[in-house]
Amino acid sequence: TRLDMELARIEKGGYDHFMLKEIHEQPDTIFDCLRGRLLAQSGQIMMSGVENHLDAFINAPRIIIVACGTSWHAGLVAEYLIEELCRIPVEVEYASEFRYRNPVVHKGDVIIAISQSGETADTLVALESAKENGAFIFGVVNAVGSSISRLSHAGAYTHSGPEIGVASTKAFTGQLAVLTMMALKIGFAKGTIDETRYQHLLVELEAVPEKVKEILKDTSAIERIAKKYKDASDFLFLGRGYNFPIALEGALKLKEISYIHAEGYPAAEMKHGPIALVDDQLPVVFVATKDSYYQKIVSNVQEIKARKGKVICVATAGDDVIPGMADDVMLVPDADEAIAPLLSVIPLQLLSYYVGLAKGLDVDKPRNLAKSVTVE
Ligand code: G6P
Repeated sequence: TRLDMELARIEKGGYDHFMLKEIHEQPDTIFDCLRGRLLAQSGQIMMSGVENHLDAFINAPRIIIVACGTSWHAGLVAEYLIEELCRIPVEVEYASEFRYRNPVVHKGDVIIAISQSGETADTLVALESAKENGAFIFGVVNAVGSSISRLSHAGAYTHSGPEIGVASTKAFTGQLAVLTMMALKIGFAKGTIDETRYQHLLVELEAVPEKVKEILKDTSAIERIAKKYKDASDFLFLGRGYNFPIALEGALKLKEISYIHAEGYPAAEMKHGPIALVDDQLPVVFVATKDSYYQKIVSNVQEIKARKGKVICVATAGDDVIPGMADDVMLVPDADEAIAPLLSVIPLQLLSYYVGLAKGLDVDKPRNLAKSVTVE
């Protein structure tokens, strides 16, 4: 009825879909996640769950991150952050694999569980057995009071609010924000990050909500790119360093929302296989922001162009090289490479949304997928 339609519209805050609403909420949800925790002025990070267990983190022989899906990609970014800033070895495990191979877990090991819903069965069961083996369990969860948050010894909520769209968007950036703060807090306490970089990253993190707003201000270029490539049968997503997990996430989002086959790969690994797929039909999305890998990624773009692949780049605003090489560009504001994933993922979320939309698909409820998978 008219009334039902009107109610649905109100629920979506005037947006056509929950996914679009949730993408556009990110300046606010990231801000809410940082609020009261990140005090850039005084150089402090307030996270009681970490503070109360600082020794466990500082003395951890290793950290194991356990998650599924998009949350697993947040875990991969955290691996780069924690290894760089805290110098603690990190393993990132698919919960389902970790659970069933009788993993080696010792007392003193720290497990970080990442989950939007806090109810994913594979993650939950993996944690139960690690807990029995004496590991310290830290939950990075969105749903307050959920099973995983209750099972954890300590944790930090992402405060992203309810996420309705099946494909995770704002919960992912909430996870990145929490994990970045954790790595900074632990690294600073441990003395593995120098004060200048610490202070710089606090300021950079604080600037993220405004920069996300900047990206969202005008999405017409992304819409146009989505329409241009919507009939492709495959996509390749490439990135390096902190942007490698974002390439994986970009590919996952596209698969989920548009049903187009997509693969994410570390850009340098492409020559060991995926480059065989490149022809004039294949769109290749590079996450190519200005970072320490920039020159290398420029070479990778040339390798694809030489094989007539179609190159779409997520690039840093002001870059004057990439736009001259790529067929299409999606710009993001400049940021430190450790912070960049919070920005570079946004155009990829929008790209998948607009491709799904152009194909007339149900972007909020893709076929065969569930918001929370409570069966093993
Ligand atoms: C499902 C959802 C994904 C999500 C994954 C993990 O597959 O469709 O969006 O990333 O579960 O869920 P969790 O709630 O544990 O983060």
